[in-house]
Amino acid sequence: MHHEENGKGIPLLLIHGFPHDHTLWEPQLAGLSDVARVIAPDLRGFGLNPDVPDTMTMEDHARDLKDLLDRLGIERAVIGGLSMGGYIALAFAELFPQALLGLMLCNTRSAADGEQAREGREATARKALDEGVAVIAEGMLPKMISPKSAQTHPDLSMFVENMMARQHAEGVAASARGMALRPDRTAILTNVKAPTLVITGSADTLIPPSESEAMAEKIPGSELVVIPDVAHLSNLEDVEAFNAAVRKFLGRMA
Ligand code: MLT
Repeated sequence: MHHEENGKGIPLLLIHGFPHDHTLWEPQLAGLSDVARVIAPDLRGFGLNPDVPDTMTMEDHARDLKDLLDRLGIERAVIGGLSMGGYIALAFAELFPQALLGLMLCNTRSAADGEQAREGREATARKALDEGVAVIAEGMLPKMISPKSAQTHPDLSMFVENMMARQHAEGVAASARGMALRPDRTAILTNVKAPTLVITGSADTLIPPSESEAMAEKIPGSELVVIPDVAHLSNLEDVEAFNAAVRKFLGRMA
């Protein structure tokens, strides 16, 4: 499993969303290396990790990440995930609670897909395989970053669209199918023992902030940060606010 890492300190494993790769976390690899050992992998099927079965469940991804931590000799890490990465972080928390030093849930939700969303996943998988990922990237871009972010960071739209468009069709299809199979993990939230930070953007329409508020209410002692005017990619849209929140969270843990 390919990964990038930077820095020394608390191990901070950052899991990208769909259909992204580790470059989603470039501003965190660069900006948090003084306080953490930031580790950003390419999930199976994405980035430099192209070989993939027909379906990759969130549990399959979580097991890959545990293997990566084992390989790196890391017993416990702060596990952070954005969107699909958050679904995987919750699967990890359920499967490997002993390896969880802390949890970061970014622009994500604990609920499963409804029936309509599940059908949409298969449509996405077919579209990726038949028409190519660029078509999917173009369709998803407007939901990824807010109009304000697109305006204030003119290069961001291009960066995000390129990151999505270059993903492998097979990998996109496998994780789309896997997301459809994920269970509702709302019930595990009240049992999370590790310190938890929930971050989202006030303008996230793909996963509305109400989902983050509901998760934070259920996780004992968790902290909720809602960054104004940003949408689904809060870590890229407002690097300063996002990194400051993580820095504070890690500071409390150290
Ligand atoms: C993501 O950003 O990871 C996806 O949009 C999440 C999803 O489709 O549920």
